[in-house]
Amino acid sequence: MPGPGMELIGEEEKREVLEVLESGYLFRYGSAEDPAFKAKVYQLEQEVGKLMGVPYAVAVNSGTSALLVALCGLGIGPGDEVIAPGYTFIASLSSIVWARAVPILAEVDKTLNLDPADVRRKITPRTKAIMAVHMLGNPARLEDLKALAEAHHLYLVEDCAQAFGARYKGRAVGSVGEVGTYSFNIFKTITAGDGGMVVTKDEAIYRRLFGIHDQGHAPLRMGVEVGRRPFVGLDFRMTELQAAVLRGQLRKLDTITTHLHANKRRFKAAIADLPGLEFRQITDPEGECATLLTVFLPSEEVARRVAKELGTKVVADSGWHVYANMEQILEKRTVTAEGCPFRCPHYQGPELKYWKGMLPQTDALLGRAINISIGVSDAGLGSGFGVTMRDGFDVVDARAAQFREAFREYQ
Ligand SMILES: Cc1ncc(COP(=O)(O)O)c(C=O)c1O
Repeated sequence: MPGPGMELIGEEEKREVLEVLESGYLFRYGSAEDPAFKAKVYQLEQEVGKLMGVPYAVAVNSGTSALLVALCGLGIGPGDEVIAPGYTFIASLSSIVWARAVPILAEVDKTLNLDPADVRRKITPRTKAIMAVHMLGNPARLEDLKALAEAHHLYLVEDCAQAFGARYKGRAVGSVGEVGTYSFNIFKTITAGDGGMVVTKDEAIYRRLFGIHDQGHAPLRMGVEVGRRPFVGLDFRMTELQAAVLRGQLRKLDTITTHLHANKRRFKAAIADLPGLEFRQITDPEGECATLLTVFLPSEEVARRVAKELGTKVVADSGWHVYANMEQILEKRTVTAEGCPFRCPHYQGPELKYWKGMLPQTDALLGRAINISIGVSDAGLGSGFGVTMRDGFDVVDARAAQFREAFREYQ
């Protein structure tokens, strides 16, 4: 099973979806006078905004569109550079390219999130934003990144696709930067198959986000109309059906996090004494999602052998989330032959080059890292080994013993 929310789909979600089907309103807009119209998308936006501690949320149809809407909402476009980590899902980078800005790749550190020291080195006069990605449920070093962004007058965009529900020093991830985005695909904390959300504290940004996601309309399609539309928007709307499932899922968030934290604590304690084994640095142990447990083995060779024995892969070989495996970025493959934004008259920087090995610190860390699933089993993340949301301590203990056994001969 992919993510924790997916494993708990049940009666609550069924009831919510039936309500929508019986109402006759599948579209996010309906008649305010008709009691049958339940406005699930609107309600979900209110609930997520409240959970994140921000006044504005816009529901969209995926985490990828959430990122594109967020970047365009901030006015990021041709000629701009956005600093993003070399360890992330392709959507963090593809959204930058589709906003027609260029991704500048930075190293990750032992948190497996952006290394603030390398971000500082990558800032140029063309930098417009830093994109912090909270990988595998663990918040990035938000304090340092926020301070850097402020000192250099940059936007901080938080890609929280893999960390819905995580908190960093008391604040929800997504609420620290100017915009935060979430994904509800099947590998995420909660899911509706697909779906996304953008949040912000700023009303002017919110109005832009809303318009971009719905053909230039003012929020809730109230107000600005013919003759006064601010720009050309698109359609990234969420449906009432998706919002219904997500409202059912949202009520399970606490159950999910409590269970994952208990299983992760137990797994970690069961292997913590292994000499030579190191754990990924967690910026806020209470606040993280605990969806995965990442370990660093003493060397790449040992990591590859242990991973093979466990039927999984080291993170560097996992494919989906590592810059060195993203040929479409390395070779700047764009959908039209002009090569925009990598080749663009608005871009005033030196020729952009991406190559395997350009982030040696990231390569070295990912080469000896193994992701153990606590609640997200995804071959693309290299988390083919571990436990799932449905598993209790008996399975945790058995898997931990299996890990110890696989590592034994290398100690
Ligand atoms: C870090 C990150 N960003 C963005 C996305 C895109 O989300 P979606 O699949 O909902 O488009 C994902 C999805 O896996 C992700 O992991």
